Amino acid sequence: MCCTIEDLITTARRMAELGLVIGSFGNVSCRQDDRILITPTCLDYSRMEPADLVTLDLAGKKLAGGREPSSEFRLHVAIYSARPDAQAIVHTHSAHALALSLVATELPMLTEEMEYGIGGNVPVAPFVPAGTQELADQAADILKGIPSKALILARHGVVGFGQSLNEALLICQLVERNAKIYLLTQPR
Ligand code: 13P
Repeated sequence: MCCTIEDLITTARRMAELGLVIGSFGNVSCRQDDRILITPTCLDYSRMEPADLVTLDLAGKKLAGGREPSSEFRLHVAIYSARPDAQAIVHTHSAHALALSLVATELPMLTEEMEYGIGGNVPVAPFVPAGTQELADQAADILKGIPSKALILARHGVVGFGQSLNEALLICQLVERNAKIYLLTQPR
C-alpha cells in the first residue's frame, strides 16, 4: 500500500502550505493495489477529513467516499495506466510553472537537482480544458514516451508523480523551483 488516508490529507495540506495551490485548487491521489484514493473536488484542504476522501477503481469508477472525486480524476486514472512508476500523483497550479507554460514549450533540464529528481525535460502539454478526457489522454500520450515524472499543462498547472506522495510532491516543488530559475535567466 502506497499511502494512508492521513498521508494523503497531510500531503494535500502541505501542497497548499507551500503555496503550490490556492483555495481548493489542485488534487492528490495514491494508488492502492487495484484502487485509487483521491482528494474530493472543491473542498478546502484545511477542512478535509478522512471521510471526504474518495476511492475509485483503476477505470475511474467511484467505489466509496462521502463526496465526489476531484474533477481531474480522469487525469490521475490515465497517468496510473500510462506509467507503472506512478504510485502517487500531485497536481498543482504553481505560479512560475504556469508562467513558463505561457512562454515556452518545455522546461529544459537546467540543474542537477532536476536531472536527479525528475529524470528529464518537462514538456508543456498544449492547452485543453481542465477536467476533460482529452486532457487526460493527451497527458498519458506524452508521458508514455519520456522519462520525466512531471508534465506542465498549458495555462493550467503541473502534474508530478512518483513512488510515494513525498516524491510526487517533491517533483512538483522541483518543477516550480526550476521554472522560476528558467524565468529568472531568460533575457528580457
Ligand atoms: P478539484 O477541486 O476538482 O480537485 O480540481 C481543481 C483543479 O485543480 C482543476 O485542475
